Amino acid sequence: MKLFGALALAGLLSYGAEAASSRRFGYTNTTFYLEGKPFQIVGGQMDPQRVPYQYWRERLNKARSMGLNTIFSYVYWNLLEPEPGHWATDEPNNNIAEYFRIAQEEGLNIVLRPGPYICGEREWGGFPWWLSEIPGLEVRTNNTLFLYYAGLYLDRLAEEIRPLQATKGGPILMIQVENEYGSYGSNHNYTARLRDMLRENFDSVLYTNDGGVNWTLAGGSVPGVLAETDGTPESGFEARDEYITNPTELGPLLDGEYYTLAPDQWGSNATHNDPDDDPADLNGFVNDLEFVLNGSNSISFYMFHGGTNYGFGNGGIWRDANYLAAFTTSYDYGAPLDESGRTTELYYILRETIEKYFPNGSIPAVVPDVPRSSIDEFALEPVASVFDTLLPEPVQSEHPVSMESLGQAYGYVLYETTAQQAYTGILQVGDRPRDRVIVYVNGVKQGVVDAIYETVGEVKVTLQAGDKLQLLVENLGRVDYWSLGSGTFNALLEPHKGIVGNVTVGGEIVTKWNVYSLPFDQVPIVNSGSSSSNNNNTTTIETLPQTPVVYSGRFQLADRDRSSKTDLELDTFLAIPRGTKGVVWVNGFNLGRYWIIGPQQSLYLPGVHLRREGWNEVVVLELEPTEQVMEAEGQSERVWANHADPDAPGLPSLGS
Ligand SMILES: *[C@@H]1O[C@H](CO)[C@@H](O)[C@H](O)[C@H]1NC(C)=O
Ligand SMILES: *[C@@H]1O[C@H](CO)[C@@H](O)[C@H](O)[C@H]1NC(C)=O
Ligand SMILES: *[C@@H]1O[C@H](CO)[C@@H](O)[C@H](O)[C@H]1NC(C)=O
Ligand SMILES: *[C@@H]1O[C@H](CO)[C@@H](O)[C@H](O)[C@H]1NC(C)=O
Ligand SMILES: *[C@@H]1O[C@H](CO)[C@@H](O)[C@H](O)[C@H]1NC(C)=O
Ligand SMILES: *[C@@H]1O[C@H](CO)[C@@H](O)[C@H](O)[C@H]1NC(C)=O
Ligand SMILES: *[C@@H]1O[C@H](CO)[C@@H](O)[C@H](O)[C@H]1NC(C)=O
Ligand SMILES: *[C@@H]1O[C@H](CO)[C@@H](O)[C@H](O)[C@H]1NC(C)=O
Ligand SMILES: *[C@@H]1O[C@H](CO)[C@@H](O)[C@H](O)[C@H]1NC(C)=O
Ligand SMILES: *[C@@H]1O[C@H](CO)[C@@H](O)[C@H](O)[C@H]1NC(C)=O
Repeated sequence: MKLFGALALAGLLSYGAEAASSRRFGYTNTTFYLEGKPFQIVGGQMDPQRVPYQYWRERLNKARSMGLNTIFSYVYWNLLEPEPGHWATDEPNNNIAEYFRIAQEEGLNIVLRPGPYICGEREWGGFPWWLSEIPGLEVRTNNTLFLYYAGLYLDRLAEEIRPLQATKGGPILMIQVENEYGSYGSNHNYTARLRDMLRENFDSVLYTNDGGVNWTLAGGSVPGVLAETDGTPESGFEARDEYITNPTELGPLLDGEYYTLAPDQWGSNATHNDPDDDPADLNGFVNDLEFVLNGSNSISFYMFHGGTNYGFGNGGIWRDANYLAAFTTSYDYGAPLDESGRTTELYYILRETIEKYFPNGSIPAVVPDVPRSSIDEFALEPVASVFDTLLPEPVQSEHPVSMESLGQAYGYVLYETTAQQAYTGILQVGDRPRDRVIVYVNGVKQGVVDAIYETVGEVKVTLQAGDKLQLLVENLGRVDYWSLGSGTFNALLEPHKGIVGNVTVGGEIVTKWNVYSLPFDQVPIVNSGSSSSNNNNTTTIETLPQTPVVYSGRFQLADRDRSSKTDLELDTFLAIPRGTKGVVWVNGFNLGRYWIIGPQQSLYLPGVHLRREGWNEVVVLELEPTEQVMEAEGQSERVWANHADPDAPGLPSLGS
């Protein structure tokens, strides 16, 4: 066939010299080629940093047996470099190279999406929090400081994975430049610089991925880089054909993110996105897939498997000047493989469709799902009042300071002051709530102001001189998506949490704050009894405060579970039925947030975190304790549900 343009030459011919050790991936104007044969990418997104590394192989195997031949993978910079220059490479879940090696062993190729911005409903779109503390740095533009730190990150990532490119015999076929940049802006100098930084580090085919409309393609396409679209394939492919005219950006058509559904957001009205709810959805998925495959084009399901925003990993969407939609801990996404890695009806429907185009037994049989387990209800007893016993030394400040200025990435900040005079009126928490503020006077809860409320709740406060005002501020997840066209306020450039600006009551500024950093980056307290002993040694709190309380409980696995062959058999969904809002650690691992409003009502607890012998220790930070004793249990089947928000009666917090 005739080769198309300079890019195709780069894609196919320049690899000739390395043919012996390379897997030769390239393309003409209509067709990808792998090892000399036409190749249709049948891909699915699964990010290693959302899946326990012990389960990577099993999940990748499930991808291959659905008929996928390629895994699309984001990399989360914030987890790789939690502090400037400190690379968390000893964390096995950050071993991206190992994930790619296993993918290749399982018969899969890789499309790498390294960002540095990835969106992905992740905390600040994958950016590390500390970028916000470098004066003069601006993300997602050709800002010298941003490019410097992004360059260090890409160099470091490349050290590990450069040998895994198809050009070197590895699984990586293509690498994405930025991420849907056209939805954000149109600074082509910035994207060209990123392209060049990738070219310095890699010799793989580069591509961009943008929404399938003119303005996003115009903003996001990069000269010399294959331009692809996402969303609905019909309109996306048409838009690519119509609006991309630079021959160096043309090539085969790929729907780089075909949405299997959507991620869930916290909200009493935000229901779980489930494909089984609407058979028309399933038909739509099949029709779109047929359209792509029959047209000899390529596709990637976003998500094939979503996984979990463990700990404080989720991001949020800024809806307007005062309204955040925060993503849940679960990133189930209504994907073909559910959050626990089990197949769904959608998985088999898609597999059947793919099989029509890849006959001859080339798709392996599906290894049957392992049933999940259950854990009998066990008690959670209150063991520490956070405000009474777990506060660190405060920072003293005339005016409130942000979470980041305390050197803190995630979690909570407590702002405390003793009134010097009487105050009364509506409380204003800095420029706006960032994000959820629980208000106490002398330890008595007055109300909650929360950016997820459609109308930010108003809390009226009355203070006498000597009264103690406490504001507990939770980072619900930094905004991961913003479009420059959406107004003057750029939520992506405003990642700061805690309190920014002054606190006023009835318009009067309140000063002299004690500021306590509460990152909860470690399990706050553990049962002091040894894990093999039945003799616990925790002191329970006699009188439950209205302020946050740490609860603790423990359980042993049932005999049937202790003798299970694989950790998968121990997987369960941990529920805290009488909890309001908080965080759960199991054997020291932060499973994430729970919140009564839903739709998530239980936390995926992978069996890899459980101890077969001795006690499993569960620690819960309950922000709004109402029960002297709570319970937890492991449920083998997941229940999604929404409940009214006890802090905002009559004020629904809406998701999307
Ligand atoms: C692909 O390129 C060939 C050779 O330049 C040309 O004949 C053909 O029309 C092109 N096809 C498309 C769909 O652009
Ligand atoms: C950034 O890009 C703009 C637009 O191309 C250009 O005018 C400016 O000089 C660039 N700045 C830097 C620091 O490269
Ligand atoms: C970006 O803009 C700067 C300043 O104008 C220029 O020096 C540089 O060559 C441009 N880079 C690219 C890749 O266009
Ligand atoms: C597409 O966008 C480009 C760049 O903004 C513009 O020049 C062109 O007129 C647009 N085409 C259509 C059909 O709107
Ligand atoms: C598949 O494509 C062929 C042409 O390439 C067309 O004739 C046929 O109708 C298509 N089938 C479906 C189901 O779209
Ligand atoms: C699959 O089988 C068909 C029909 O026997 C044959 O034409 C085709 O070449 C085979 N494809 C592969 C990849 O083996
Ligand atoms: C906070 O209040 C002080 C006066 O106490 C004032 O000087 C300062 O400008 C205020 N800060 C903001 C951000 O409004
Ligand atoms: C229980 O904990 C206390 C305080 O840490 C310690 O002094 C005491 O020895 C412990 N008792 C037992 C039986 O472990
Ligand atoms: C501690 O031990 C007592 C008595 O055995 C038991 O009732 C209680 O549930 C235990 N508490 C925790 C937190 O495990
Ligand atoms: C949201 O929930 C409230 C009850 O909390 C209900 O009255 C309202 O109709 C719901 N709104 C939507 C859009 O579902």
